[in-house]
Amino acid sequence: MNATPARTSNDELLRQATLAAEKSYSPYSNFKVGAALLLENGQVVTGTNVENVSFGLTICAERAALVRAVSEFGPEIRIVAVAVANLNKAASPPCGACRQMLAEFASADAAIVFPAAAGVTTMRFEEVLPLGFDMQLKDKAR
Ligand code: THU
Repeated sequence: MNATPARTSNDELLRQATLAAEKSYSPYSNFKVGAALLLENGQVVTGTNVENVSFGLTICAERAALVRAVSEFGPEIRIVAVAVANLNKAASPPCGACRQMLAEFASADAAIVFPAAAGVTTMRFEEVLPLGFDMQLKDKAR
């Protein structure tokens, strides 16, 4: 019988986010971002940013990973950790839109690992999105 696999470490998640950033389609910004989500079921799902000549249609790496995760594993997924990386040696915390999208599926204590100005930083999800709109509304909608 196989042993239960070890939970993917934050370092490994960051490595997978960096690999995902290699796939970036970002001819307009040249900013290559990757994201890796660790799901409660142990699966890791990655995504990268996909830009468009109509700039506002660009999809961030985090949201690309999120829609991929739901598409592969269904609406009950829970995200327990998120790593974000870029190939530009810049700070890249998840943008506000991505935080709001992640809120739908991420636990309050999910680890958010990202390059900050001072280096790789880990914060709890509820710290990076303290006033997301609106868990109560979501509960009522169900
Ligand atoms: N980007 C992400 O992929 N994630 C974020 O959280 C912020 C920004 C992308 C969008 C665009 O392709 C490039 O980074 C520059 O803004």
